Formats: sequence, C-alpha cells, structure tokens
Amino acid sequence: MPPKQHIYTSLDDTPDKMVRLLKSHHPDFISGEEISKSLGLSRAAVWKTAKKLQSLGYKIRSKPKLGYRLESRSRLLLPWEITDGLQTETIGRKIYYFDKINSTQNFALDLASKPHENGSLVIAERQTRGRGRQNRRWVSPSGGIWLSILLKPNFEISQASLFPMVTSLSLSLAIEKMLSLEPKLRWPNDVTLDGKKVAGILVDGSIESNKIDYLVIGVGINFKVSPKEISNKITGRSYGVTSLVGKDSEANPVQFLQQFLLELEGMYYKMISGSISGIRHEWEKRSSTIGKNVKILTPGGRVVGRAVGISDDGSLLVRSNHKTRKVMVGDILQQSGSNRA
Ligand code: BTN
Repeated sequence: MPPKQHIYTSLDDTPDKMVRLLKSHHPDFISGEEISKSLGLSRAAVWKTAKKLQSLGYKIRSKPKLGYRLESRSRLLLPWEITDGLQTETIGRKIYYFDKINSTQNFALDLASKPHENGSLVIAERQTRGRGRQNRRWVSPSGGIWLSILLKPNFEISQASLFPMVTSLSLSLAIEKMLSLEPKLRWPNDVTLDGKKVAGILVDGSIESNKIDYLVIGVGINFKVSPKEISNKITGRSYGVTSLVGKDSEANPVQFLQQFLLELEGMYYKMISGSISGIRHEWEKRSSTIGKNVKILTPGGRVVGRAVGISDDGSLLVRSNHKTRKVMVGDILQQSGSNRA
C-alpha cells in the first residue's frame, strides 16, 4: 500500500492547539478530560488527535488516570511548529504543508489566483518533481527544506529581478546566524559552501500592465541531506552539491527556517521602502563571483570577462575590452582568478 499522504495547513488548528497544551504542561501529564474541555473536543477526538500527532513524529505518552504527556517534539516542518515563535507579519502566516508533493512551486502558482494569499508558504518534506532554474530537475529528498512563498508586491516589473538576490542574501544571513557558517553567493543566486551548492532559488511570476501581479519564490535548501544521493541523480554539468549540516547534527530546521523567513521579510520591507543599495552591498560582500574571471552561458551566447559588480536590478556587471556589460540571465560555466574563494 502506498504511504498515507499528509497535507496540513496552519488553518487546521486542532493539532496546533493540542500541541500547545501539551507543551504548556510539559513535563507533566494533562488529563484527557482537561484537553477535551480546553479544546471543546470529545474524548474520542482527543485520542484521535494524539494518535495523529504520534504518526507525525511526536512522542506522546498516554497513561490511564493521568492522561497525556509530551515526551519529545516532531522534527518535521509542520505548520504549527513553524508558526510557534515565528516573528514575521506577512511571510509564513499561512502555511500549506505536504509530506510529499510534486512541486511546492506549482502548488503556490495555483494559489496565486486566490485572495488573501500574500505571504503564504508552501512547504514539503520531499518533492517528486522539484523544478530548478532553466527547466532543470531539482532533486528533493527528505531532510531538505523545499518551499515556495507567494508574494503580491505592488512593484514595477523592473524590481522582480531583485527577488532572487534578496532571497539568497536572506538565506546567507540565516545560515551565518543560526549555523555559524560562512556561505558564499555565486551569481545569480546559488548559495554555496566550499564552492559546492547548498541552496538554489527559482522565481516565477506574472506581470500585468508593467506591474508585478504576483511572484512565487521557490527555495531549495539541502539542509540535512546526503550530497551523494543528490549528485547521483543530477544529469549534466554540476559544481557539486553539499549539505548544510551533517547527518548526525542536532540543528533544528524549524528554527533555521523561522530565521530565514524573518530575514527575508525584513529585506522585503526594505525593498518596499526603496532602500536597496545596502542589500546590494551585502550581497557583493558575500559574492564568490565578483572579482573573478568568468565565463557565462547566456541566452544570447557566451560572455567572457571579469565580474566587477552587481547592478541594482541584480544583473552581473562583466568587464572586457574596456567595456562593461550587464548580464541579466545566465549560468556561470567557470569562475577563476584572484579575490575571494
Ligand atoms: C536552482 O535551480 O538553483 C533553483 C532550485 C529551486 C528549487 C526549489 S525547491 C522548492 C521549490 N519547488 C520547486 O519545484 N522548485 C523550488
């Protein structure tokens, strides 16, 4: 039999309320009767919810006469765990969680036509048809963080190209703060550790009369994955893949995600207020591309030169033969030479 598929949203608040109640009584037991009164549920529904939580990885002990006790929390990216302690106002306030989905990006794109979805987060434990840039496949096994965020900013289309830059920078800040690592940014939007890709960003969207109608920011983070498992499934050219944390690490993906969403929202508000030069400077500081001799594959052919900076719209500035060119879209085939590693 195929495994049962779980889909939860942060609007299903029964598991959320029960987890909160159990957490607030931890390490004591709470009686079934008290849970049933507080949540307005029958005793059978309390039992069913406890079973559901156990199937999601919570260790809940039940004892006759004493009731229920939470022994340990789930390690899954469940919506009520993400919202518990989340400090954002818009991003991630509504969450759609899947234990398995074809692509969070496709689901978020389908949500775009619905009202009240600005900031909605779609997240999955694994994807069966994850999409990467340039129509590439994105391998998304359990242990990674695969998410898409729907935004409906009131921006001009020219600002759309800033989102990949802002997202990769937010991710770097979260990695620095939560994991004490020093990631680098490889243009246009790869986050790398020791030159190997640890996260990628894909932005889809729609425009209407020169304005952004909506954007879906897709982020794939190799949080705790086997790089070998991913590399074996990648076809074509690759710089190598790595994982943010090792398989025995106790790092908490939920806390990491909360920090990333907070960083992203902070930058989003900065963009709304028009202060992007600081963002560009921070991105350049972390770049492994700026200062290097680069070979880039663009839709118009190969561009070769020295990467000298990023423009305000996220394009790479490449200098060759005393001329500077703006490259908006492309893949770096090679970056070498002086400056940062
Ligand atoms: C890249 O090619 O570097 C971008 C990869 C983006 C992958 C993420 S995972 C979550 C979201 N859903 C998808 O199908 N793709 C994006």
